[in-house]
Amino acid sequence: MIKVEGLTKRYARNVAVKNISFEVGKGEIVGFLGKNGAGKTTTMRVLTCFLPPTAGKASVAGFDVLEQPLDVKRNIGYLPETPPVYPEMEVSEYLEFVAKLKNMPSGDIAKRIDEVCERAALGDVKHKIIGKLSKGYRQRVGIAQAIIHNPPVLILDEPTSGLDPEQQLHVRELVASLSGDHTIILSTHILSEVEASCSNVIIINNGEIIASDSVANLHKRGKAFETVSIQVAGGDPVSVRQRLEEVRGVARVVSKDSKEGLVALEVESLEGEKDMLRPDLARAVVQSGWNLTELKTIGDSLEEIFLDLTRAESAKKEGESVTQ
Ligand SMILES: Nc1ncnc2c1ncn2[C@@H]1O[C@H](COP(=O)(O)OP(=O)(O)OP(=O)(O)O)[C@@H](O)[C@H]1O
Ligand SMILES: [Mg+2]
Repeated sequence: MIKVEGLTKRYARNVAVKNISFEVGKGEIVGFLGKNGAGKTTTMRVLTCFLPPTAGKASVAGFDVLEQPLDVKRNIGYLPETPPVYPEMEVSEYLEFVAKLKNMPSGDIAKRIDEVCERAALGDVKHKIIGKLSKGYRQRVGIAQAIIHNPPVLILDEPTSGLDPEQQLHVRELVASLSGDHTIILSTHILSEVEASCSNVIIINNGEIIASDSVANLHKRGKAFETVSIQVAGGDPVSVRQRLEEVRGVARVVSKDSKEGLVALEVESLEGEKDMLRPDLARAVVQSGWNLTELKTIGDSLEEIFLDLTRAESAKKEGESVTQ
């Protein structure tokens, strides 16, 4: 549904996006993840025909962004980083204005406004002035205008940025509810958002794609060893530590703050031995007659994987520039 091939976008001497390629299949919801300045908005603006590519190609629903921009725009709903809402207009007035801009048949507009207001939970504020709405509601108006012409593709630039956690959840649920009928790219630097909403992730760093994979595979690509945090009740610190050091596959055990009869430790597995680490530790504790009060993996979050990947990439770049 979306195809990008060798796309480069340059602003004067600054290359914002360097030779990136990716595809998004019909019905997929893809998280476009990257730090500030990574090139997310630039890529989205090329896909929505607001910026021409410097080199390479991009197409949406089979239409080329340079050659068939009208067809591309017809197939896309776009929520820009700053939603283009007119503060002096009422919600329904604004949506009518957008619907007309998008050349919707005038007989269909009123019904469609009702539908999108229902979808975006805007029913209560339909006749309120946009400038008087909270940021969360304004963001929903931004999403409502993006879906008004029922486009197959949605491009949402940081849909939850600046919202409080509850509003973020509402917007996330709204996006999730749209995912069945639409192909969606959403950009974010909130990793939990990608985990919550997206099937696939594209990680962009300094204008280059450094990973493009399913969320599940990214987790699997994590480290070959595992570190777990463990808390044991009923044993003394020295015996617990000794017992855990004897567990197969354990590389090392580090004591943490132990208090009130709880022994807290961090256990690191040997490389390639992570699968059985937690069950083996649990068994060792229980068989010694102690109670296991906590056992959790540390550092396996998407956040850690993202930081590892971006750091590894920067280190690689530095290495290359030293050897050149
Ligand atoms: N209009 C512009 N003129 C010149 N440089 C620009 C322009 N817009 C963006 N850039 C530069 O291009 C690079 C990519 O910016 P972009 O806005 O695409 O990043 P982003 O990933 O969306 O970041 P953020 O998370 O902060 O929104 C940055 O180095 C930025 O300074
Ligand atoms: Mg941006």
